[in-house]
This record gives sequence, structure tokens and C-alpha cells, in this order.
Amino acid sequence: MELFEVYPLMDLEIVSGNGSWVTDANGKKYLDLYGGHAVISIGHSHEVYLNKLKNQLERLGFYSNSVHNSIQKKLALKLGEQSGYVDYSLFLCNSGAEAVEFSMKIASFHNGKSEFISFKKGFHGRSAAALAITDNDKIKPAGLPDSYVHFAELNNIDSVEAILKEHDISGVIIEPIQGIAGINVAEPDFLQQLEVLCKKYGVLLILDEIQAGFGRTGHFFAHQLAGIKPDLITMAKGMGNGFPIGGVLIHPDIKPSYGMLGTTFGGNHLASTAGLAVLEVLEEEDLIESAREKGDWFIDQLKSIDYDIKVTGRGLMIGLHFPFPIKALRSLLVENGILTGSSSNPNVLRILPALSVSKEELNIFLETLKTILQSTQFKDEQFSIG
Ligand SMILES: Cc1ncc(COP(=O)(O)O)c(C=O)c1O
Repeated sequence: MELFEVYPLMDLEIVSGNGSWVTDANGKKYLDLYGGHAVISIGHSHEVYLNKLKNQLERLGFYSNSVHNSIQKKLALKLGEQSGYVDYSLFLCNSGAEAVEFSMKIASFHNGKSEFISFKKGFHGRSAAALAITDNDKIKPAGLPDSYVHFAELNNIDSVEAILKEHDISGVIIEPIQGIAGINVAEPDFLQQLEVLCKKYGVLLILDEIQAGFGRTGHFFAHQLAGIKPDLITMAKGMGNGFPIGGVLIHPDIKPSYGMLGTTFGGNHLASTAGLAVLEVLEEEDLIESAREKGDWFIDQLKSIDYDIKVTGRGLMIGLHFPFPIKALRSLLVENGILTGSSSNPNVLRILPALSVSKEELNIFLETLKTILQSTQFKDEQFSIG
């Protein structure tokens, strides 16, 4: 049997990892500034993470959500304390798209409405409802129900209010920093205005923190810089450092009922153990504060490179906007032993390292990038395009 080929693959297989480094099947080492797609938060093969998962696997790998699971309860408690959302409750699932779908269901159960506002160029996942609120027609099959979606302009509050005036909306869902679009930041004052508007129209505010959350931007959740408190927060990626886990944080005014949500695997013993290990390491190693500090430093260094690069993002969620498509540049970085991310904007390179990456490691990237940009291939590029 062949695989159903839906991914345009990079020509390499990663077989092991340690901290910010991974090794391919030929034994070549790479500095991982892609984090396996913003997933690796505490670093590959972290000792605490490995030991906790090994111990749990030896005790019990799985049992169903129809019995008590004290690991889930510990995870909820610790997540509440570390994120500052102690009075919210947690629903656990398996992926980002699932967390988004569940957040939409929770909103609709809560206010009995079915229409949503999301944002142009945003991405929320590939399952049916998450895809419907994603603004990318290229990845949508014909016939996907989308009558309940309205797309507003990021950082344009009038475009949101115009929709709220016309339609009976259940929730507004937004990425605090659009990841796949190419690191487009929702400005803090825009998020504050959005919160006010959602209250005015009795609409739930949903923050999709699947890529930006779990410390990546130097705050537990990226929206916390704006001082807002959403009704629902979705998370996944960095939450399990590679173990599949997702979740929704739910405002205390939203009440659960039996049967409202459910999943076989969500929050299982291993997934919750992975989530707890991540939280423990984030705290022990002060990784969120350190992501902020290293991110500020790194962004300054990137901005000082003598080349036409626009730098967007915060902490360790960074977009480098070049005046040319980055495909060849990204391949050259791979040749030079550095993995980075692309985005749906062909000119944007995404940098999404583990929060434990060191300044020395980030310096390797800076020096390699400068050398590549000085080569004739790229030297002239910045002047020839726009
Ligand atoms: C902001 C955002 N939301 C949702 C998703 C979907 O997550 P998953 O691929 O785990 O379903 C992603 C994935 O990249 C994402 O970046």
C-alpha cells in the first residue's frame, strides 16, 4: 500500500532529536528553527518529558474518559495556575482543528447561534468547520458548508462591526498572530477593541492560540500582551511537545452539560502526562520569560542585517519578509544545516524554534543567513524586485 500523498515533502527524514538539534537518516545534523511546525516547545527528547512518559507508559497507556483521570485534573490545575486562567475550565482533545471545532460547538451551545466571524488570511485547521472559517479557497473542497462564516479584515475594527450589525453572530475567532499566513500580528489595541465590540453585541470572543500559545511569544498566551480575556481559548501544538494533544479553555459563565462534547482519545493518560511535563519544564527553566528576552534580542539582530528584510512577530514566533520568494533561500539553509518554516505567503520565512533555543544557536542562523544573502544570487535580488 502507498501513502496518500498530500504533502509536498522536503527531501529528508528526521530520525532523532535533542534540544534544538535533529539528525536525518544519513546522520547529518540540523539546527531546528522550525520546531516541527511550531510544535517543539521544550526541546526534542527533554529528559523530564521522556522520563514522565516512560513511567506513565509502563503504568498505563490508556483508559477511557468514562472513568476518573487524575492526570487530567492535575493538568487543568497547573494550566490554570501557569496561564493565569484559574477560574476557567479545560476540555481536552487531540489536535488544533479539533480544539477549534469544539470551541465553535461550545459557543453555539452557549448562545444558540451558528454564525461566526473569522479573519482574512487566517488559518484554523482542515476539518470541516475549522476549514470553513479558514480563508483559503485552495484547500477547500466544493460543497463545504460555509454559509455561517463571515471574513473580516485583520486590524480593521470597522470591518468587524459592519458584519456584527448585519448578522446574528455566535462568536468571533482570531489568531493573535496569524501563523500560516506569514506572521501577521493582530495589534493589541485592535484586540482590545474586539473585546469591547464582542461584549457590546453579546458575541463570544475565541482566541486561537494553537500556534502562538504555550509561551511561544513570551507570554503564556499571545493575547495576554493586550490584557484581554477571551471567552474561549484554543490550544494544541506546543502543549504536548509533539505528543498529540489539544484543548479549549472555557470562561466560567459557560456551563457544561453531559454529552455536549466528547472524545475517545482526548486527554488520555499519555497525552495529559506530556502536557504536564511541558508545563513543568516551562516553569522550571523559566522558558516563557526567556523566549521573550531571546526573541527581543533576536528580532533586533535580524532588523540590523544590511538587507531589505521586514521582520514581524514576537518572542520566538518570527516572520522574515523578503523581497523575493524564499523557496531557494530555504533550500540553501537546509543545505547549510538549518531548518526553517515557510508560510502561505511565498516571501515569508517562519522561525519557530524550541523555547529552549540558545542565543549561540540563533547566532548560527544569523551568520549563515548573512553569508547566503551576500552571495551573488541574493545580493542583486533585493534591488531587482519592487
Ligand atoms: C492557528 C492554528 N489553528 C489551528 C491549526 C490546526 O491545528 P492541527 O493541524 O493540529 O489540526 C493550526 C495548525 O497549524 C494553526 O496554526
